[in-house]
Amino acid sequence: MSALLSILLPLLFLLSVQPSPGQTQIEPVVLQPTLEETARVRAIAQPVAQTLLRTIREELVDALAKGGPAGAISVCQIQAPTLTQQVRDQARPAGAIFLLKRTSNRVRNPADAPDPVEAQALQIYLEAASRRESLPPDLVQKVERAGKTSYRYYQPIHVAALCLSCHGDPAALSPDVKTLLHERYPQDQATGYKDGDFRGLVVVGLTPP
Ligand code: HEC
Repeated sequence: MSALLSILLPLLFLLSVQPSPGQTQIEPVVLQPTLEETARVRAIAQPVAQTLLRTIREELVDALAKGGPAGAISVCQIQAPTLTQQVRDQARPAGAIFLLKRTSNRVRNPADAPDPVEAQALQIYLEAASRRESLPPDLVQKVERAGKTSYRYYQPIHVAALCLSCHGDPAALSPDVKTLLHERYPQDQATGYKDGDFRGLVVVGLTPP
């Protein structure tokens, strides 16, 4: 009897800690925000997304002029995360933004890979891009997770001629660039793009505004 209990009791315990269906949801659920919510989220997040894209671009142009594509890779690798952190710290209202990143379906840095919520947003853009439709200028998701609400704001990133020396046709990359990319990003998926291609998304995560 006690042997049976010693097997059964831990089992019962295990069963009791499993959340029953419909209890606190752990998996995030993505909802359509109202127009009013979208407007409030956009007012805060749009300037942040634009500042991030502009700052990285300026840094890139500067680095390319100074060190060519191979020199600029180091700047990119070190500066992209630092600049992202700076833009996030300067965003107002303070503390409203809990997430700021760039993501893509084909990442160079694995740390930029999309989470399941971002993957849904990417899917919307990728489908529009594959149908050659013009892409939505931005997108807002309302996210419910474990009883908490947050929002995500996205803006598409497009490839320009300036990007091709590091993200273009692998056959056309300079040997220096190829070697550096191979060393630092052995799983790089972010080459083979053409001018005008959809490259990825800026992601801004906000607490309810
Ligand atoms: C000098 C080479 C270089 C140029 C030019 C360049 N990039 Fe990148 N790009 C990189 C590197 C290196 C990373 C990885 C940065 C890191 O480690 O955080 C990266 C990362 C990214 C990411 C983040 C997602 C990922 O794949 O990790 C996006 C988006 C991106 N680049 C878009 C662009 C766009 C758009 C342009 C043109 C405006 C551009 N890049 C020009 C080197 C470059």
